[in-house]
Amino acid sequence: MCLREVKKVRIMQLMTMSSMDETHIDSLLPIEISSFRNPWGKLSFLDEISNQHSYSYVLTIPHGSDDQVVAYICLRQIIDELHILKIAVRRSYRRKGIAYRFLADCLCAVSKQGVRAVFLEVRPSNSAGLHLYRKLGFHIVGKRPKYYLDTGEDAIIMRILL
Ligand SMILES: CC(C)(COP(=O)(O)OP(=O)(O)OC[C@H]1O[C@@H](n2cnc3c(N)ncnc32)[C@H](O)[C@@H]1OP(=O)(O)O)[C@@H](O)C(=O)NCCC(=O)NCCS
Repeated sequence: MCLREVKKVRIMQLMTMSSMDETHIDSLLPIEISSFRNPWGKLSFLDEISNQHSYSYVLTIPHGSDDQVVAYICLRQIIDELHILKIAVRRSYRRKGIAYRFLADCLCAVSKQGVRAVFLEVRPSNSAGLHLYRKLGFHIVGKRPKYYLDTGEDAIIMRILL
């Protein structure tokens, strides 16, 4: 095992994955704001976690007497399809394999719940996202022209069959 892998394993061992609830939102909002051009606000997260078709998870790490959110993911299931609405990792924890492990674990879990295909949309300018999804086995299956109103970028649609 190389040193980088040892570091990755140690970080993942300190983390806990749980369903997102209201108590996580204040900790994850700064990640959201620094990660997305059009960040969701508290109400959007509250809506999401109360939606019966939504699955939202957080990875937390002990931080003083509290837990700090290190990463989160929001997923929506539509019959046997899953849509990844967003995934983000706190900046200081990026490039440590966290998103890869987090998503790989989620894909493994949903494949056991009857999900057959997972879709997402990503900006062509988001090279971190594109590389992450390709590494996980997603393929480009289409695009939505001028989907992102702020930049006029197309959305790249990616899919993985489970
Ligand atoms: C995209 C994001 C979730 C990746 O999280 P991460 O924990 O840093 O990713 P990982 O360390 O698990 O990286 C896994 C793979 O993704 C790719 N990757 C991640 N960050 C990258 C970057 N900045 N540039 C190029 N490739 C990158 C690499 O292929 C990497 O594998 P490698 O380390 O073996 O090269 C993170 O950068 C982020 O939160 N970005 C802002 C939000 C966002 O864009 N979300 C995706 C669209 S919803």
